[in-house]
Amino acid sequence: MSNNIVVAIDGYSSCGKSTIAKALAKELNFIYVDSGAMYRAVALYFIRHNIDLQNHAQIAEALHNIHLNFQTLNNKTFITLNEEDVSEEIRQMHVAEKVSTVAAIKEVRVALVKQQQRLGRSKNIIMDGRDIGTVVFPDAQVKLFMTADPKVRAERRYKELLPTNPNITLEEVFDNLAHRDYQDTTREESPLTRAEDAIILDNTDLSQDEQLMFALSHIEPFIAE
Ligand code: DC
Repeated sequence: MSNNIVVAIDGYSSCGKSTIAKALAKELNFIYVDSGAMYRAVALYFIRHNIDLQNHAQIAEALHNIHLNFQTLNNKTFITLNEEDVSEEIRQMHVAEKVSTVAAIKEVRVALVKQQQRLGRSKNIIMDGRDIGTVVFPDAQVKLFMTADPKVRAERRYKELLPTNPNITLEEVFDNLAHRDYQDTTREESPLTRAEDAIILDNTDLSQDEQLMFALSHIEPFIAE
């Protein structure tokens, strides 16, 4: 690995990984990469193009036609799928319902892991996801594994979704999270698991400031004066 610093943040869905990752990136002036957004964008492409998730030839061809990019404008980072900004659409329930199945497909993981490793080659980065500390960057200097009470996670996610989905119920969100946790931890390809050297961050009762201080205390020793 080169001299750049990699902070890997893994954990369950809706644990606040991206919130802490963004805050850390801002504080440290690191690049933030949301690897979940990449899986979501691929899922969106598959939905739009009616890709048969059992058809490996069709999946391979689709992956060939998918070009993902992160761009930053006015301090806001967005993801593009073949040059279209899909940052909002990938958060919707129709994508959330499919994404774990798409993320379990080997070809999808191989393609995205390659891109993620490329992103981390030359810059200091913070990347969040499910397999960052175990598969994408097993040599990351700092690995955090985030968790929180499932009810608290569902309530947080529900509040986030409500403005754009006024008909959504807390129960629906809770069930979707439970289903995704199950799929993410039991799938054959790179299941979500804590790297042995990852530090656990349970944020059920922690404020964002407390989480930030905790994470910084583990990263700062790696930053040269
Ligand atoms: O973090 P998120 O909820 O946006 O992730 C969306 C889905 O993608 C989720 O089901 C887990 C999966 N994912 C993954 O398998 N590996 C990653 N590195 C990131 C996300």
